[in-house]
Amino acid sequence: MSRKAILIDCDPGQDDAVMLLLAFGARDALDIKGITTVAGNVPLAKTQRNARIICELGGVTDVPVYAGCDRPMMRHLVTAEQVHGHEGIDGAEIYEPDLPLQSQHAVDYIVETVMGAPDDSITLVPTGPLTNIGMAVVREPRILSRIHEIVLMGGAMREGGNTTPSAEFNIYVDPHAADIVFRCGCPIVVMPLDVTHQVVTTATRTAAFAALGNRVGKSVQAMMEFYNRFDEEKYGTDGGPLHDPCTIAYLLNPTLFRGKSVNVTIETQSELTMGATVTDFWGVTDRAPNAVWVHGVNADGFFDLLNAKIARLP
Ligand code: BDR
Ligand code: CA
Repeated sequence: MSRKAILIDCDPGQDDAVMLLLAFGARDALDIKGITTVAGNVPLAKTQRNARIICELGGVTDVPVYAGCDRPMMRHLVTAEQVHGHEGIDGAEIYEPDLPLQSQHAVDYIVETVMGAPDDSITLVPTGPLTNIGMAVVREPRILSRIHEIVLMGGAMREGGNTTPSAEFNIYVDPHAADIVFRCGCPIVVMPLDVTHQVVTTATRTAAFAALGNRVGKSVQAMMEFYNRFDEEKYGTDGGPLHDPCTIAYLLNPTLFRGKSVNVTIETQSELTMGATVTDFWGVTDRAPNAVWVHGVNADGFFDLLNAKIARLP
């Protein structure tokens, strides 16, 4: 079976970190062309460093890491240290990694890599604000025919927002970039809070990471213990939602998920509902479907897959 070519764009973040580790554990199925980073959960200087720390944690030295945009297209950067801690991946060991940051700008790397690929061949996996991806689309629209699909984490409908009453963090931070992406015409698969709130790292699941016995499993447990506290208090749950790994899990086993083809339009006008994903789930408008809105998941199957891949790492 040929490996799926993917480009990951992220803002680590503990759940981005677990997303990267899941991808690292599945390199027999995924050809990771690069990791691009964006400002989001923490400022860019930390997200690019965190991506490199997670590469070293996972024993990955041959995937290049790039830094992209340090602020959203039109708005001031909003970060989420209250969730992820001051370093973004608190719980993991924080240090300046040896793995170098590439000098090329992430947006240039995305454009160059996608333009160098055959038509319909590359899958983009964004798990942070969509600034880099939106910029790449504006900079070189010819990338669109070469993109196979975009599998992103962002948005919310039934769950409501986690950053404002109407908006999920990734879309809220850069709604203008999200608007460009959702109008770009590529096939899009969305992992919104409606599905990510179903994959919760309970105390039992968190302990299971450490029980794998490897260094990555221990680090994932430590990150989850830090990360869970915020959402446990907010939602009154045992554990927090493991948002970003849903993207990679979907690429590895789409049968774990259930979704519906719908129109998603991004609110960019009203300050009250800025960044809302206006999702026409019941087809009450004549707006054409532009995304698959994922709303169901086999959570136990998801954690079985995650543990199996993390068990392969150092
Ligand atoms: C999203 O926002 C970030 O805090 C997480 O990393 C995830 O990508 C969830 O709303
Ligand atoms: Ca993220």
